[in-house]
Amino acid sequence: MPIEKLTEEEAKEELRRLAELIAYHDRLYYLEDQPEISDADYDALRLRNEAIEKQFPHLGREDSPSLRVGAPLLGPFKKVHHRKEMLSLDNGFNDQDVYDFMERIRRFLNIPSETPIDLVAEPKIDGLSATLEYHKNRFVLGATRGDGVEGEDITENLKTLKDIPAQIEAKDFPGITEIRGEVYMRHEDFLVMNQEREAQGQPLFANPRNAAAGSVRQLDASVTAKRPLKFFAYGCDEYAPFNVQTHWEFLEKLKQWGFVVNPLAKLCTTVDDVLAYYHELESKRATLPYDIDGIVYKVNRIDWQTRMGSSTRAPRWALAHKFPAEQAQTRLNDILIQVGRTGALTPVAILRPVTVGGVVVSRASLHNEDEIARKDVRVGDTVVIQRAGDVIPQIVRVIEEKRASDSHPFSFPHTCPVCGSHAVRLPEEVVRKCIGGLVCGAQAALRLRHFVSRDAFDIEGFGSKHVEAFYQEGLIQSPADIFTLEERDRQSLTPLRNREGWGDLSAKNLFKAISARRKISLHRFIYALGIPQVGQATAKLLARHYVSYERWQAAMREAKTPGGEAYTDLMAIDGVGPSVSADLIAFFDEPHNREILTSLLKEVTVGDEKPRATSSSLFANKTIVFTGTLEHMTRAEAKVRAEALGAKVASSVSAKTDYVIVGEDPGSKGKAAKVLGVSILTEEEWLKAAGE
Ligand code: IVH
Repeated sequence: MPIEKLTEEEAKEELRRLAELIAYHDRLYYLEDQPEISDADYDALRLRNEAIEKQFPHLGREDSPSLRVGAPLLGPFKKVHHRKEMLSLDNGFNDQDVYDFMERIRRFLNIPSETPIDLVAEPKIDGLSATLEYHKNRFVLGATRGDGVEGEDITENLKTLKDIPAQIEAKDFPGITEIRGEVYMRHEDFLVMNQEREAQGQPLFANPRNAAAGSVRQLDASVTAKRPLKFFAYGCDEYAPFNVQTHWEFLEKLKQWGFVVNPLAKLCTTVDDVLAYYHELESKRATLPYDIDGIVYKVNRIDWQTRMGSSTRAPRWALAHKFPAEQAQTRLNDILIQVGRTGALTPVAILRPVTVGGVVVSRASLHNEDEIARKDVRVGDTVVIQRAGDVIPQIVRVIEEKRASDSHPFSFPHTCPVCGSHAVRLPEEVVRKCIGGLVCGAQAALRLRHFVSRDAFDIEGFGSKHVEAFYQEGLIQSPADIFTLEERDRQSLTPLRNREGWGDLSAKNLFKAISARRKISLHRFIYALGIPQVGQATAKLLARHYVSYERWQAAMREAKTPGGEAYTDLMAIDGVGPSVSADLIAFFDEPHNREILTSLLKEVTVGDEKPRATSSSLFANKTIVFTGTLEHMTRAEAKVRAEALGAKVASSVSAKTDYVIVGEDPGSKGKAAKVLGVSILTEEEWLKAAGE
């Protein structure tokens, strides 16, 4: 929907959806090195998010993607707090954006039109950024960008790169500093590596960027050492110690100190220079030995850079001018439906292989069923595809003149191709999702991990790794299997205690931990089921409302009748809207899910919930402010919970505030509370008082 037409309510919902979606794609891209959408589509999401925020500034979310770069960290690596944040870059997509960029600089610094503004133009390398800390001229710490504030410690891995000097002898090297740049892989190295992987039956990397990212995040540095990784240096945390006046001088120094600087970097003095350089490289792009996805322009004078500073996301003195997509024509041989780990059905176009921008392409993303319908893409069509300097090519359009007369529109399946459960699409959603969560082979491992996790069944010592391994081996297919594991193990020829990594004691402990959870509270049980949109807060609302499992499940099944009593009752719960209701109803409507519940309930007992007396709540009609990082829940969830207790949640502390709940690093709001004498509660105290 066009942004101008959004009502405030719709804009709010759209911002929520975009924050969630962008966070999801950030994770795939930065953490799992498995992006699902093209860079161009990703950029479009971010641009839309920013445009809506501009139109409705007061709706800006705390978790807005425009306040953050990259993804939160999850991996097994040690975290590194960057001394200076690792920012991203603002993007430009056409010549006009570059003129605007120059105009902005002129206005910001008040530079008269006759004074030239020198820019350094550098290829934007499509790899992953890394920062290298030097202490007494020795390379001591290397880290990924992570979310820009904290990265992952990949020192040992980076030490294996020849392009990264371990020790710098030069007298003019400041000794203590951070050098930043891009880790990447050359095309030919990437191809050889993938051929070797194929020969060994290992999964292939989709492109050099993913290969580089996957290689640098290996737990065993000797694996990284065998990967053909390279590094271009292009920046630092701050220029001050280097004693240079310009970025160009800085690049010269980097070379003298033994770093590899991209040889195509160029000092430009006019916009026309810059654009000529851009178009020249654009035409050379396919022949370069590595992927670049645009040109980065940087203000050359460092004093000007300093004056311009940065926004929360990117420096104002730089611009990434992206290349347009490279296109080709080919035949669409088939449309496959893949099921993701979250149950989303994603159509994938299987293409007659064709070369686009130097890469052979045989698959393309079709996004979702609306996209197929909108473009009227049919099996057998000749299509135009493009690689927007990125990973997964997209289908731009169909060449209708070339369509066979007997072709027919594609009909999107309404059942899951993996497990046969219903695949439903909720109103206002674009994806169709398999709702067989716990039975669906594509999703089960993820759902089982959720099932045993801390806030769900909380089975001690049963980590994700074990769950995943047991699932892969067929030991556990559904939640009930967890509780029959001990019995089956007793009769097994290969009992757990004899397996690698297990012993008598650890096997016994696991069974004990499982047994200890045969009794569970209703809210944990509901949460454990992993019903879409039913997080902890919603699970609690439901549990308190329905009190017993019996009542809850009966109500969910009856709620199927729209407008009926059960449906009205469900919708009347504060915090449950039509979308959550639809997910709950869909879950119970799927016979596979009901079977799962039946077998699970043979193994576990669900205790009744204490109904909550709202009016007696300590927080009823009180104004609460949250500050700092909460350990047990997100801010959004804390808000829902507080509101469910009858409280009003405010964003700033004033004399009207009744309680300030402080998490870690409370900052200025914590101070304000002290000054105003407002009651301060720790997160634990709050949870207790809130009846947890
Ligand atoms: S400068 C504060 N220069 O692009 C500015 N970045 O979209 C920091 N990148 O995270 C970046 N080539 O990973 C810069 N010559 C170059 C680059 C470059 C690739 C990457 C870098 C950055 C991303 C931003």
